[in-house]
Amino acid sequence: MENRIEEIKRDIALEIEQVSDSKALYELKTKYVLNKVGIIPALMKELGKASKEDRPRLGQIINALKDWATEVFAEKEKVIEEIERKARYEKEAVDITMPSKKAEVGTLHPVTLIKNELVSIFAGMGFRVVETREIEDDFHNFTALNTPAEHPARDKQDTFYVSDDFMLRTHTSPGQIRSLKSIEPPFKVLIPGRVYRADDDATHSPMFHQMEGLVIDKNITMCDLQGMLDVLVKRMFGENTQTRFRPSFFPFTEPSVEVDVSCFECGGKGCKLCKGTGWIEILGGGIVNKKVLENCGVDSSEWTGFAFGLGLDRIAMLKNGVNNIHILYDGDVRALKQFKD
Ligand code: PHE
Repeated sequence: MENRIEEIKRDIALEIEQVSDSKALYELKTKYVLNKVGIIPALMKELGKASKEDRPRLGQIINALKDWATEVFAEKEKVIEEIERKARYEKEAVDITMPSKKAEVGTLHPVTLIKNELVSIFAGMGFRVVETREIEDDFHNFTALNTPAEHPARDKQDTFYVSDDFMLRTHTSPGQIRSLKSIEPPFKVLIPGRVYRADDDATHSPMFHQMEGLVIDKNITMCDLQGMLDVLVKRMFGENTQTRFRPSFFPFTEPSVEVDVSCFECGGKGCKLCKGTGWIEILGGGIVNKKVLENCGVDSSEWTGFAFGLGLDRIAMLKNGVNNIHILYDGDVRALKQFKD
């Protein structure tokens, strides 16, 4: 038995030299020291067969062998762990001098930029922003705005119906009705949002954006609208910009006007942008028709108001020299990236 023990010791010493990774080390440990299956625990069992006199001495030798083997394995384990850790670190190393991927920074949509600019100008005049629904009923989009069925003004706005009773709003003016019905006068609201009309060419898109303004107070006159628009236009297009009111017609305002600004490209001399006229139309507006107030349960002998509607896409196009509205909506990042705050 003693010889065998010596042999085992030699085998372990030889075999451990060959071990170069933790898997092989684990297998070696299993082979020699694991309980029940290992060679050394098996020796312990065999001890029972030895003579009574030899047993204590042999037991000591086997135990010493076991302690020695355990220590040898532990040392080897440390060495292998170190080697493997180094290898892993090398493999996982990152090159901190490598240039990073360039992050693309997005920009706000040109229409959003115009909207934000207008909202901040109007906020300074005490307006609050409300957003009302895009799917409207006939009452809010037309009837309450003094545009009853069969009224010719309905033809101007080719409507997308979603059912017999509901449509995509053709303008932001139904927001006037919702405001009049829900807010106690006096008030000033701005209603920006998407609107829809069956119209599609270089300057019209079936979906576009408007911003409605509504002021309700006592003794409002056309002068109030004119004064406010003057401030707006100068802030938006520059101090030298002039405004011009032309009589117009909308069922929900009386009197109604269309407002032109002196061309901010040529200063009024006439150019391609203003089609040689020196003026550019930017909005429709007027004094709120008494019928509209009455339709909303607002006493028209006490309250008066003015309203206006701006085309946001149109202003975005004019300000950026875009001659086709679809450039705004085709989603071509190369085009949209050029619009900056
Ligand atoms: N809703 C009108 C349009 O879409 C614009 C407008 C708004 C006119 C408010 C007068 C008052 O053409």
